[in-house]
Order: sequence, then C-alpha cells, then structure tokens
Amino acid sequence: MNDLVLYYVDGDVAVITVNNPPVNALSPGVPEGIAACLQRAQQDDRVRAVVLIGAGRSFIAGADIKEFGKITSGSKARGEGLHPLLYALEDSPKPVTAAIHGQAFGGGLEVAMACAYRVAVPEARLGQPEVKLGLIPGAGGTQRLPRLVGVAKAIEMCQFGEPVSASEAARLGLVDQLVEGDLVTGAVAFARRMADQPVNKVRQRDALLGTPEQNSPIFARARELAQTRQRDLIAPRAAIEAIEAATKLPFYEGIQQEAQLFEQCLFSSQSKALIHVFFAERAAAKIPDLPKDTPVQPVQKAGIVGAGTMGVGIAMTYANAGIPVVLKDVSQQALDRALAAIQRQYAQSVAKGRFSQAVMEERLGRIQLSLDDRDLEEADIVVEAVFENMALKKEIFSRLDQIAKPGAILATNTSTLSIDEIAAATSRPHQVVGHHFFSPAHVMRLLEIVRGRQTSLPVLAASLALARRLGKVAVVVGNCRGFVGNRMFGPYRREAQFLIEEGASVEQVDRAMTEFGMAMGPLAVGDLAGLDVGWRIRREFQHLDPPGVRKPLLEDRLVEKGRLGQKSGAGWYRYDENRKPYFDPAVDEIIDQVRREAGIQPRLISQQEITERLLYTLVNEGARILEEKIALRSSDIDIVYVYGYGFPAHRGGPMFYADSVGLSAVLERVREFHAQHGSRWQPAPLLERLAGQGRGFSSIDTSIA
Ligand code: COA
Repeated sequence: MNDLVLYYVDGDVAVITVNNPPVNALSPGVPEGIAACLQRAQQDDRVRAVVLIGAGRSFIAGADIKEFGKITSGSKARGEGLHPLLYALEDSPKPVTAAIHGQAFGGGLEVAMACAYRVAVPEARLGQPEVKLGLIPGAGGTQRLPRLVGVAKAIEMCQFGEPVSASEAARLGLVDQLVEGDLVTGAVAFARRMADQPVNKVRQRDALLGTPEQNSPIFARARELAQTRQRDLIAPRAAIEAIEAATKLPFYEGIQQEAQLFEQCLFSSQSKALIHVFFAERAAAKIPDLPKDTPVQPVQKAGIVGAGTMGVGIAMTYANAGIPVVLKDVSQQALDRALAAIQRQYAQSVAKGRFSQAVMEERLGRIQLSLDDRDLEEADIVVEAVFENMALKKEIFSRLDQIAKPGAILATNTSTLSIDEIAAATSRPHQVVGHHFFSPAHVMRLLEIVRGRQTSLPVLAASLALARRLGKVAVVVGNCRGFVGNRMFGPYRREAQFLIEEGASVEQVDRAMTEFGMAMGPLAVGDLAGLDVGWRIRREFQHLDPPGVRKPLLEDRLVEKGRLGQKSGAGWYRYDENRKPYFDPAVDEIIDQVRREAGIQPRLISQQEITERLLYTLVNEGARILEEKIALRSSDIDIVYVYGYGFPAHRGGPMFYADSVGLSAVLERVREFHAQHGSRWQPAPLLERLAGQGRGFSSIDTSIA
C-alpha cells in the first residue's frame, strides 16, 4: 500500500480509492497499490465485497502517458503491464465493483472491465482513446470490450477513440447500474447487494463475439473507414486487427496478439509524434511569467465588429459556447448575408444530426445583429474582425475605446498587422490583445493569442480561460508580421509558387503535401482562403519588401484575371457548383506565359524536392521565430500548425518533424537551397547552432510542471 491508493472498510465492503491527482493516471505505484489493497481485502474477514473508486475529479484516466517515452527510449522495461492486476481483480473471490465518475479512459476502462461490476454516475465518460496517441489498448481492452458491448461498437470505440457517456454505456451493457447521488454510497450499497452472487467474468463471456458471417461485413466496413478517413494511420488498423483476434482466438491468445500489435504501435514514429502533440497542447497553456493565481474576469457577453466570414464564424463560436454575442456591421446587407450564412451552417449541422433543431434555435437566439455601436457597450470582450487594413482597424479601435465599458477586453482578429500599432489607437493599450481565429472560425481549433507590448497579465489570463471555454487550443505568440502561423505560411506558399514557376505542376505541388499528410496542398488552401486575401496583404506590406528579392508572380496574375479562388469559381483550380476542384488548362497557359516572360526554362522537379523545399522553408522560418521569442517553445509552433494549418498530427508538427529528420540533415538541404536560390534560404542561426551541437529544437523548450 502507498499514498497513491487508499483503503478503508465500510461495514462489509472494502473501498479502494486511487488518489493520484489530477486524473488518477496509472503511474508507477498505482497498480501496485491497488493490488496490495485488494490483497488486504481478501485477508480481511469482515469484507464480503470490494469497491474501486477514484478520488478527485476522475476514476482513472488511463496509463501514465509519460511512461511510454521511457519504454521506447529504453530506460524502462515494459514487463507484464497491467495484466497481473487485472487477473487479480477478475478472479477476486470477493467481487469488485468499479465506481466510475469523470473518466474511465484507456487503462482505466481496462481496469473497470476486469472488475465483476461497473456502476457510474450518468455524466461519467468511458472510452479507449489510445488511438489518438497512435496506440491501441494494451491491457486487454480489445479483448474484453467486444465481450461487453459487441464487436461493432468495440471497433468503433477503439478505432476512433471517442468515449461514450455512462448513460450510453448502461444501454450498451458496459455499465451495470447508474448511480444518482453520492457515488461511493451507491456503489457500496450495490456491492453489498451483489456480494454473494456468482460472478460472470468478462473474459469468459463469448455470447457477443458474433459468428464469422455476422462479423465479416463489420470488419470490412471498419477497414474501409480506416482507408478513407484514417489513410495514413497505423493504430486504427491495429485496433481492428486486435478485435478481430478476439473473435477468432481463445482469450489468452487474443491477449498475446493484442500485445504484439500494441508493441508495434508504441515503437512507431506516429505514436511518438501524437504523444508529443498531447503534451505540447497542454504546455502551450503555460506562460512562464503568468502567475497561476492571476485574477480572471469572466466573459458574460461578447461583441464582434465586422460580419464577414470571420465575424460570422467567431459569433457562432461564442454562441456555441453559450455566450451571448452582438454581431455588428455598418451595412444591413452585410448583416442579412451574415444571418443567412449562420442559419445555413446551423441547418446543415442539424441535417447531419450534430445537434437538434432546439439547440440550433438556442444558439441563434444568442446572436444579436446590430448596426449600432452602442450595442457593444455591455460587452466584456469586443473582437474586431474586419479586413486587413491598418487605417480602418485604428479607426475602429479608437471608437471602441470610447464606447466599450472599462475593463472590457479589446481583441483584434488581425492575421498580420501589429497589435501594438492598433493598441496605440486607444487610451487603454493594456486591454488590447490579438485573438487570431482560423477559418472557418467555429470549426478550426486553433486560437493564436497575440500578446502586445502592453497587453496586461489579467487580459492574457482571461484570453486563455476564454479560449478553453470556446473549445479552442490557444497558443500565446508575440507580435510580429503574421505572428507564428502566417509568418511561416508566407514563405511556404511563396515557395509553392516558385516551384511551379520552375517547372512543377499545380497537381504535383499539392499532391506532395497531401501525400505527406497535410489536409490540403498549399495551392488548394490559397483557393479556399481567397487569393485576393494574400494579394491585399502583399499590397499592404509592399513597402517593406527588400529590393532585389525574387517575388512570386503567379498568384498576382491569377487575381488580375479575376481568379480569386473558390469564391469566384476559379483560382489555381476550376470549381463546380459544389466546389469540387478540377485542373484547369487555362492555369497551365498562365503558368507558361509567366515562365516565358520571366525567362525561366522549366525543369523536371522531383516530389522529394517539393516536399523538402516546402517543409524546410517552414522549419527555417520557425527557427527564426523561436530565436526571436515570438513563440515560447518549438512545441507551440507545432500546435499552431497541427490545429491551424492541417499539419498531420502523426508527424508531430513542423519542428518535431525536423527534429525527427535530424537538424543536421535539414541544415544540409537548407544550405543547398541557399546556394541554389539565394538569400531567402539563408539558414536561421538557431538551426545552424543546434545542428552544430547535434541537438534538436525540443532540447531548448522549457517545460513547466
Ligand atoms: N497520463 C499522464 N498525464 C495525464 C494523463 C495521462 N493519462 N491524462 C492527463 N494527464 C495530465 C495532463 O498532461 C495535464 O497535466 P498538466 O496539468 O501538467 O498540464 C493534467 O493531467 C490535466 O489534464 P488536462 O487534459 O489538462 O485536463 P482535462 O480535465 O481537460 O482532461 C482528460 C482530462 C483525462 C479527459 C484528458 O487529460 C485526457 O484525455 N487524457 C488522456 C487520456 C488517455 O488518452 N488515456 C489513455 C492513455 S493510453
């Protein structure tokens, strides 16, 4: 026994409590503690039954994820894992009841399934989310779950990793009884009632495992989904295979098969990358100079200025999170368009079964459209979301300064412009901050919180808390042109154009990136965002372009020909009415013409060159951003790219990817590109330094416990 697991007896029921805050992960000492308490219960003559429960906010949220890295790096042996404990629970002559609140995730659910019974509060969630970390359940989850919920549901839960609520789990047979009121009281009463009943051990239940005829279409469908929706991922396929083993092999052989598949996943680069993303996301919320006890002013009402695409998406984000919002614009026409867009998008969600009509009405009811500035007076935060024009933004902020209530946060959704310059248009620059959402704002998870020179700590703390409430992953970044995301994206999209000017095709460039795993290629992204957006920004900043540096020619030419991307039906691609893209020979002609005018002799360009030039240009700029402390850590840059730009999470983000390639190999290519293409490929000093020392970007990241 140890401090991590506590023991007491209530009459004839022993209560074993896991006490490993914050989420009762199965860290070293926890399984041993549970086993020791169980042993003690066996020896205690008063005890007829056992309850296993978690202290604090959760039952058990799973294996301790930090331990996986120790195993893969060789500093820790894997051993038998949880199996001995699970058999001890399952074979206990005094039946064990798992009492679940918060989460029973991963190893937590595997522990619960080895118990004789499971009771839960209705709000609890149960799941096998390992696949999100590139893993499969490694302690019998793929063998016991189908025995409890059937093959199809078990596959769904292990393949996609989404948890079920306890209420659903009760319907599925995963939970034996829901407990209203105090969990431990209910669980003890339940355990007492069941004390002398014979136990039907889960590993011995075969009734739901199905016949080959029943299972074959289920596995075929699951594999098809893995192919279409999870194309590049190893773990979903491994999960399906392990569950197939449960249907074909005796239990213990199934366990061995699961162990082998788990091992393959654990040592894969995908799992290392996904675990990196898990911790990087949580590290991003930690700001070294922001004390934990900084007072946070609650946001009860929000205002948005500008009812364009971004304003609409941001308004929906607030409404979806239960925060009433005023959406203000200067033209009735814009408001009408905004309302139609909001209604259309909500109706689509209702049609897809994402939420009910009643929820849609509730959300719509939280959005007030307005032509009048004074409707913003009550707002605790006002987010400006007009197009990228400094003069206009300054005008809006000086107006907001006059009408917003004292203490209101004044946020700008600018994606490139200086927060400090915008803040200077107000008498309260400490209240001004950047909240850079990504389009579509109610869908994309990333929020760049841009910290200006004078942004106050309470405004920063409130922004972080608000982001969490809005369901966003926040990354705090410094103020520079384009911040983290767009500053890196500029060179990336420029390089894509240079590659085409030099001889690559539109298809080749986009395909290189989608085959790498990006959600979309750089040119298709341009069409989605609107090519005129970049065109406008280039005009806004053209006075800053250093003389003599090569500029891409193609996109400006497309814009001049009215090809603005999806919205005009044509950009890099041609689009039909459903926005399906087609290659367009007219674009090839424009490309040929631009090459001729620029005197470029096209050459054959390999996929490897495309991939390296696009990714390493991100990495090189990322290194500069890190050195300038615009990003606090390399892992923050990874989070920006994974959640804001469709970078594949199973590659960990651009900086993690560079570390995994090895910085000296990256630098070697950057130097070659520098020699071939000139100053834009000047290696970042930090890249040179770290590569020279044989280190990676992650080695300079500060982690805050
Ligand atoms: N192992 C180790 N640490 C874990 C953990 C785990 N399984 N689950 C959560 N933590 C840590 C987080 O890193 C975080 O640490 P920090 O405070 O130092 O940043 C802390 O616990 C709280 O987690 P957080 O995610 O911020 O809290 P939450 O309330 O939003 O969510 C969970 C809680 C359990 C839903 C969420 O953490 C989760 O999904 N965890 C992973 C569960 C999982 O995948 N289990 C299977 C492992 S194979």
